[in-house]
Amino acid sequence: MFLLFLIAVAAALQTSDQSLPNVLDRRTEPKKCPCAFAGSIFDPFVKDASKGPARGFVSYAQDELGCTIISGQFSKGFEDKNGTFRIVDKCDNLLFDISKELDVKFSEDGGTKAFSYKFDNINLNCDSNGLLVVECKIKSYYKRQSASGASMQAGSGSSANIDSLP
Ligand SMILES: *[C@@H]1O[C@H](CO)[C@@H](O)[C@H](O)[C@H]1NC(C)=O
Repeated sequence: MFLLFLIAVAAALQTSDQSLPNVLDRRTEPKKCPCAFAGSIFDPFVKDASKGPARGFVSYAQDELGCTIISGQFSKGFEDKNGTFRIVDKCDNLLFDISKELDVKFSEDGGTKAFSYKFDNINLNCDSNGLLVVECKIKSYYKRQSASGASMQAGSGSSANIDSLP
């Protein structure tokens, strides 16, 4: 019985020995990005940056490896239960359709339940595709300018800028 116990402990030590280098690797993985935080406020009375019937808040938190957690909740604007969520640049070009990942559930009063998902393919300011810095060239006969940053389109016809937050 004691021998069996020793063998079990030895086996356990061996497996934890093998997993030790992995744990250390992860801990020493270089920081690639600054931590960054941003939000979309869906409320035209608070800010001039949103349009449409939706009322709510979406937050974007980038960690030091460049992954971004997108989470939020809405209080109204989803009466038709349309859970389409798209991130577009300032010229309305689609950057990401995140409807499937967010998998937003609706409440009975036209709002949503809280939602959250960690994206490893979306960042805020880690590279030139980041949601706060992505460039969109607007070129027409009338104006020749570039705009940076992105917006969130939520539900049917609502949208709000994605702005850096302290
Ligand atoms: C939901 O809204 C989006 C964006 O406005 C629209 O393109 C889509 O057709 C709508 N889906 C449904 C099922 O109504």
